[in-house]
Amino acid sequence: MTSPDRTPPHIAETTADVRAAVIANQRAGKTIGFVPTMGALHPGHVSLMTRARQECDVVVTSIFVNPTQFGPNEDFQKYPRPRELDLKICGEAGCDIIFYPSVEVMYPAGFRTFVEVEGLSDILEGAIRPGHFRGVATVVTKLFMIVGADRAYFGQKDYQQQLIIRTMARELNIPTEVVTCPTLRDPDGMAMSSRNAYLSAEERQRGLCLSRALVAVSQSLAAGERDLSRLEATLIEQLSASSGVELDYGVIVDADTLAPLTSVASEMVALVAARVGTTRLIDNMLLKLPE
Ligand code: PAJ
Repeated sequence: MTSPDRTPPHIAETTADVRAAVIANQRAGKTIGFVPTMGALHPGHVSLMTRARQECDVVVTSIFVNPTQFGPNEDFQKYPRPRELDLKICGEAGCDIIFYPSVEVMYPAGFRTFVEVEGLSDILEGAIRPGHFRGVATVVTKLFMIVGADRAYFGQKDYQQQLIIRTMARELNIPTEVVTCPTLRDPDGMAMSSRNAYLSAEERQRGLCLSRALVAVSQSLAAGERDLSRLEATLIEQLSASSGVELDYGVIVDADTLAPLTSVASEMVALVAARVGTTRLIDNMLLKLPE
């Protein structure tokens, strides 16, 4: 909740405005935490702002539905944009500065510079959504340069995304530290997502097979299963158990590189993606072998 003495967040719509607000704080010796979002904020987003609030003096959140990460047949136009509600949520979460740029501010006419993280951008989500991660890496690079934060907070919910951003920031020598935070779930296990709003009650029930499949695999590993193909079979079986769920992928890969594995490794991640009706759902779980 907003503390009574907290002033409402400053809303910046231009890069000059957000830069000036950040620089004023940096000159006063304050550390800056940054949470990039596309809005339609839910408790998963708020958990990133809360973490930033705990670790940094000043919290900057960006709200920008980034056109370059949507494919031609994706939901860019219909993506929810509840501006007033989002601003209220940011205020209550203790954000100090909200960067709310227009498409023209982020991509002036003639824009032609893009960031590509080769090898990681074109597999899994990237294979199904060509160009998606190019758009993500480009907008996050721009946001990192504009905001100049000490730390930036991302959700494990988008596992491949946080890995790509981590790689991009390291390889481009961007001095913002990338922090990955746990996935927030609803009580039924479903990972929170702005896109869950598209699901009917019945589709939501069907979509629960993603989180159930991940739990089944981690339980199987905990019970001593060490055969990778049997673990993957459990994953696929659970994902196929629900009718009306079109599986895109269900894999267990190396947690650092997303490379395929031939046998169990100490740090693995199970990644799943499926379509329920017209809505795409993704989820993941880290799988660690006990020492
Ligand atoms: P968006 O989908 O709005 O997500 C913003 C951030 O919130 C991401 O880091 C995402 O992983 C995190 N997040 C989403 N659901 C979460 C959950 N259930 N628990 C914890 N964190 C969660 O991801 C994007 O926007 C965009 O691609 C962006 C990085 C802003 C670039 O445009």
